Amino acid sequence: MDKIQINGGRKLAGEVVISGAKNAALPLIAASILVDGTCEFTNVPNLMDIHSIKLLLEDLGARCAFDNHVMTVDGSGIQKIEAEYELVRKMRASILVLGPLVARFGHAKVSLPGGCAIGARPVNMHLAGLEALGAKIGIDHGYIEAKAEKLTGNEIYFDIPTVTGTENLMMAAVLAKGKTVLRNAAREPEIICLADALSRMGAKISGAGTPIITIEGVDRLAPALVTVIPDRIETGTFMVAAAATRGNVLIKGCNPDHIGGIISKLKASGAGVEICGDQIRVRGMEQVKSVDIKTLPYPGFPTDMQAQFMTLMCIADGTSVIHESIFENRFIHANELMRMGADITLSRADIAMVRGVPELQAAPVMASDLRASASLVIAGLMARGTTLISRVYHMDRGYEAIEKKFCALGADMVRIK
Ligand code: EPZ
Repeated sequence: MDKIQINGGRKLAGEVVISGAKNAALPLIAASILVDGTCEFTNVPNLMDIHSIKLLLEDLGARCAFDNHVMTVDGSGIQKIEAEYELVRKMRASILVLGPLVARFGHAKVSLPGGCAIGARPVNMHLAGLEALGAKIGIDHGYIEAKAEKLTGNEIYFDIPTVTGTENLMMAAVLAKGKTVLRNAAREPEIICLADALSRMGAKISGAGTPIITIEGVDRLAPALVTVIPDRIETGTFMVAAAATRGNVLIKGCNPDHIGGIISKLKASGAGVEICGDQIRVRGMEQVKSVDIKTLPYPGFPTDMQAQFMTLMCIADGTSVIHESIFENRFIHANELMRMGADITLSRADIAMVRGVPELQAAPVMASDLRASASLVIAGLMARGTTLISRVYHMDRGYEAIEKKFCALGADMVRIK
């Protein structure tokens, strides 16, 4: 397994270009199942998760090509409705093929995604929504089986906003008979990106980005050309890295409108943040102020930025309280940061108290999930000396060419096979 070795203590400086958003590209590629023809997606990030969903769609019979950040998917040849465990276990987001398969073929068998390091990750709201649209749902030997002659529009209320749940049911409803209203829907930019793409394919959707999304079913969808939005979490990750190393970094090709929560908290921590169109300049200051955060559904502070921000708070003046309200086990990185000299108390499963220390100490650490690995990279960049991060395959799922991008900013970072 690859490791990343960092000789830290250097200020980051220079420019970095943001890739397309993993969490926008995945539902877009799944949506091409709905179309009897070839869809084209541009600005698709070159990530392991993208290759995983490509393999899954090809296993179903779609013809896919991915080159130079352009993905084409021809869904006309799909003749299999079963997403196998071997493919689904590699990436939970495979659950996103469930809605489109039931919508287009009236039948789907998808392996239950199972949990991951950060939590149980149930899909009960996905299944309850499909039942509301008339699907018969069974769970057998670890597989979800959904059947419906023809889905029928209905009112669906989410107990809590679910990102992929909203996406799955949006994709199921676009071909259902009649009107569907999703209430307490997720509002993430990735939802808006998917709704725009489905509308280009001929779907009738309104309200994406608000808690109430209305979908009028249509008979069929047509191929479309869609551009993936920039990755707001990659953007936030580089912003925090610039602040944490007291650097001066220009982040290009991002969308500042998608990261209001991150900007607000970074400014509160004392970092300089200047926005100019699709570019953001972040300057780290000597003094880092402690800031409390609570992760919330969009437009609140994103849970996918909690680990990275915790790393910054490790060297802040004073104590910051971090409340992880979305996932039940998303502090695994805290134990690794403590090995680097951080002073963190996990008073509850969802509350971390971070007392600032003058600096972190380089050490060998282990990544546990995608965003935790990013937080350890930032810690390695901050700490003088050599930090060795193992299990970096987690990183490769969600960050394209991470060490190349950081080295271009002056980091001393190498991947060790
Ligand atoms: C999406 O996961 C993202 N993944 C996650 O990013 C992100 O952390 C998460 O949204 C929250 O923003 C993709 O978009 C592919 P949820 P998702 O359904 O949709 C509970 C990353 O790092 N819930 O919004 O799986 C759930 O347990 C990944 O890129 C149910 O209880 O998250 C959680 O507590 C990690 N039942 C909360 O809702 C359900 O049926 C929000 O989860 C569905 C969710």
